[in-house]
Amino acid sequence: MSIKRDIPVITTVAEMHAWVANQRSLGHTIGCIPTMGYLHDGHASLIREASARHQSVVISIFVNPTQFGPSEDFERYPRDLDRDLSVVAEADGSIVFAPTVDEMYPNGPQSTIHVDGVTEMLEGALRPTHFDGVATVVSLLFEAMLPDEAFFGQKDLQQTLVIRRMVESSPIAAVRRVKITIMPTQREADGLARSSRNVYLTKEERALAPAIHQALIAAVNAITSGERSREVLEALMLRKLQTVDRFTIDYAVAVDAQTLLPKETYDQDDTVALCIAARIGRTRLIDNELIGVTG
Ligand code: PAJ
Repeated sequence: MSIKRDIPVITTVAEMHAWVANQRSLGHTIGCIPTMGYLHDGHASLIREASARHQSVVISIFVNPTQFGPSEDFERYPRDLDRDLSVVAEADGSIVFAPTVDEMYPNGPQSTIHVDGVTEMLEGALRPTHFDGVATVVSLLFEAMLPDEAFFGQKDLQQTLVIRRMVESSPIAAVRRVKITIMPTQREADGLARSSRNVYLTKEERALAPAIHQALIAAVNAITSGERSREVLEALMLRKLQTVDRFTIDYAVAVDAQTLLPKETYDQDDTVALCIAARIGRTRLIDNELIGVTG
């Protein structure tokens, strides 16, 4: 028999700071996992790793309005706090921080944190205000949770680069001292990357969605077999994706994993980021694979 602990939910920054002070007085270190809720196994893997490394683990659940564009899915983004609390308990988290929009943005629209460079391409090109929203909310969440370490998923590769850069360049000491750890993408048995948005998929769309990961794996295999040309790799991924005529492809690219910029050919010691974004019905899916070039 397993007895589930009740996970306390904190909703204000002041209570959060009091909790952090208490944990620190016990000599605990603090791990945090920023999320937008509707937790799945991908989130759970981050919580489990944080609990293996820290005595106190805080999971934030906040559907952040500033990272959604005007025609995006902020209103219909799935929310289910009760279900989330049982995922947190299963994965051994300590507490949930679930602030309101007013608590996080008490003065309404306010100053924004903008990260240069790595925000411009891929998701940034298609969702122009997205990463300003992400960088701003993650700094506010760090200021609230004051963690030693924060855990993010490779699933959102560009987001991990933006957050790393934001932390390194932040003028706010509490933000700058957070260690950033990136964890591998968790997948369904058929390869589809786990995502809160997968719940939008109809049965038929769900059956087609694994083609995204299959296209990535085809390109990974091509690199392993010696292919080095960006054009060939991208054409290969497009060909695979085009077998599903329900997809609208936003991008399917082979770029340098550090800069997210394209190189014509990849050389030894480069890491290639294969990145795909595609829409099917009302759902937008993103996925990526990283592969080091050897020999
Ligand atoms: P959300 O989409 O809820 O994701 C929270 C964290 O879980 C992110 O770091 C994300 O990369 C990670 N994650 C999502 N799917 C995953 C998977 N299949 N395997 C491993 N990790 C996965 O990303 C956000 O929220 C927001 O942008 C946020 C950072 C919270 C800022 O609002």
